[in-house]
Amino acid sequence: MTQDPTLVIVKDAGEMSRMAAEIVTEVLTARPTAPISLPTGSTPVGMFDALIDASRNGTLDLTRFELFCLDEYLGVTIDNPNTLTAWLKRTLIEPAGIPMDHVRTLPVDDPDPDAAAHRYDQAIASAGNLALAVLGIGNNGHIAYNEPGSEADSRTRVIDLTQESIDQAAGYFDGATVPTQAMTVGVGTLLEADRIVLIAHGAGKAEIIRRALRDPMSAQVPASWLRLAPDRVTFILDEAAAGLL
Ligand code: PGA
Repeated sequence: MTQDPTLVIVKDAGEMSRMAAEIVTEVLTARPTAPISLPTGSTPVGMFDALIDASRNGTLDLTRFELFCLDEYLGVTIDNPNTLTAWLKRTLIEPAGIPMDHVRTLPVDDPDPDAAAHRYDQAIASAGNLALAVLGIGNNGHIAYNEPGSEADSRTRVIDLTQESIDQAAGYFDGATVPTQAMTVGVGTLLEADRIVLIAHGAGKAEIIRRALRDPMSAQVPASWLRLAPDRVTFILDEAAAGLL
């Protein structure tokens, strides 16, 4: 019998953010050194703010966990302010007081990116797999940068970005040329996490959420593969993002 992932539908983005931050807190309270992945993009910013507040007021210790980044552009050096890592540093890592030596970044500047991606995958496995992966979803159904065409058993690897993702990323690039490739944690790697939380808000995400949850699972909508682990996956959606379910 097929089972659906847990669906939590909340009123708005604020509630979505609070609930996602609560799950991060729950996981880190049980295991302060847990390996965790957190997404980039506009969706997690409210969750980050809740985590920063909790860290600053001493109710959450973010100094001990291991943060595995989910994706990064290829062909940009890590000191480039437009990288996903630099964005995460400004938006979460520094304000939350997460020590940089606990942050694992994708080895995009390695001379052999394929081999380096494989080693990153192995580092996640060596950490005992992710205790928690919080994910956003792109309008094309990507999770991390697993673009359409990504299979359920895909591992951490280099991927060509779709034009849609390149256009979306342009908003963060301040006029500079957006790279056409990225390194992303694979769908299969994500599916090995103990717990996976996908967050989405707004009517703009309603159609892709419907496709991810209601259409047959397929590589065309990589987020649909999350239904392979229904007992470990929770979608936290606001009413607008859940509007077409
Ligand atoms: P967004 O991006 O949070 O800015 O909508 C999500 C994604 O592309 O994964």
